Amino acid sequence: MGQAGALVLFGVTGDLARKMLLPALYHLTADGRLDLPIIGVAKTDKDLDGLREFAREACGGPDDAAFEKLAGNLRLVAGDYRDPGTFARLRDEAGGKGFLVHYLAVPPALFAVVAEGLAGAGLNRDARLVVEKPFGEDQQSSRDLNAELLKYFDEDHLRRVDHFLGKEPVEDLMVFRFANTLLEPIWNRSHIRSVQITMAEDFDVRDRGAFYDANGTIRDVVQNHLLQLLAILAMDPPPSTDARAQLDEKWRVLRAVQAIRPADVVRGQYAGYLDTPGVRPGSTTETYVALRAYIDNWRWAGVPWCIRSGKALPTTDLEIVAELRRPPVTMFGADGAPDTPNLIRFRLQPDAGVTFDLLAKEPGKMHARPVPVSVDFTKVLGPMEAAYERILADAISGDPRRFARFDLVEESWRIVQPVLDLPDQPLPYEKGSWGPAPASDIAPDGWHEISTTFD
Ligand code: BG6
Repeated sequence: MGQAGALVLFGVTGDLARKMLLPALYHLTADGRLDLPIIGVAKTDKDLDGLREFAREACGGPDDAAFEKLAGNLRLVAGDYRDPGTFARLRDEAGGKGFLVHYLAVPPALFAVVAEGLAGAGLNRDARLVVEKPFGEDQQSSRDLNAELLKYFDEDHLRRVDHFLGKEPVEDLMVFRFANTLLEPIWNRSHIRSVQITMAEDFDVRDRGAFYDANGTIRDVVQNHLLQLLAILAMDPPPSTDARAQLDEKWRVLRAVQAIRPADVVRGQYAGYLDTPGVRPGSTTETYVALRAYIDNWRWAGVPWCIRSGKALPTTDLEIVAELRRPPVTMFGADGAPDTPNLIRFRLQPDAGVTFDLLAKEPGKMHARPVPVSVDFTKVLGPMEAAYERILADAISGDPRRFARFDLVEESWRIVQPVLDLPDQPLPYEKGSWGPAPASDIAPDGWHEISTTFD
């Protein structure tokens, strides 16, 4: 199986297509990396011209040759996903175009419906199925969904999107770890005291009340994005660059992560959340979580991996801070205070780079003072590609490494399973704060302030 003959985009008039997929397809076309029929499928009153206009608006209104090419490649099959007639029309449209990539930008409840419809029309043969997140709502439902999809597509032809895996700064983590040799000797329990992963967003759930309320922070970003980050940071070096080798190492480390204990979790809900349209009265869904995970292997046993994420926090940032153990004897702390620890910061969003917080002599004194030693990747290396461009390019080419293999998804659900749907009311926090106060007890000696910028 190789390069696709056509991309079939289910949900072409939906939110994800408008915000992410159509702009990414436009950029890929402009870069000369995409030129193939794109068959949009949706339950819509639009005709093809209407879809082209919708696409133009989604792409920011371009009036150039790249957009004309994209628009010329667009087709539309309008219809209900439960109607076999929709798939018969899709078959007519796709006829003779060769190998199909079906991209399901539709609610998860429709994944199996669409897969069955495709199979009913023979459109699963020699085709790839790409599904968006969330993949299930717990371990059992993810297994059920997977079993359903496997009736029509085998694992080699299935791709589960986790768009964080398409982010270049996420891949930087792997390159930084395994292209340099300075980190590996200290990247273990003997030298690292804790690792803190912060994914903060300064906006609230906005118009996504109904979606968010059915999910909450753990399902929305911890089970997928943040455990994928943990896997990349904690895994052993893969024996080769081949996709399977990388996925196998991620799986091995996730296997070793203990299921999270409710005692190691603080959940929060920002003030005003319950007034959001679509949120159930008295909802106990969390909009913030701080938790501690432990990895039972020789490299990491006993080291807390602290993860926090939430809506309506003070900033929008994604940063990882690894704290090194302090020297065994304090020599240079001011007024006898212990030296502050060395930190290694990986900054992923909104900018990308690495900072080492080292200690240097304070001029005129025999005290050590933290000094940041930083590199801003974008400044030094140039701009990075957007996640969805890489996800779509890989969906079309077939490279599996930037997708979530099912065994990894299953392990991630196992890890968060004990803390899904906890019955207690999350602790309240004010919008614009760092979450409920007890969350600071999750990290040893509290959370490190994140760097927020390189300047
Ligand atoms: C999505 C979540 O998967 O990721 C959102 O559903 C979250 O709640 C988003 O805001 C964050 O992604 P990004 O790429 O904007 O950092």
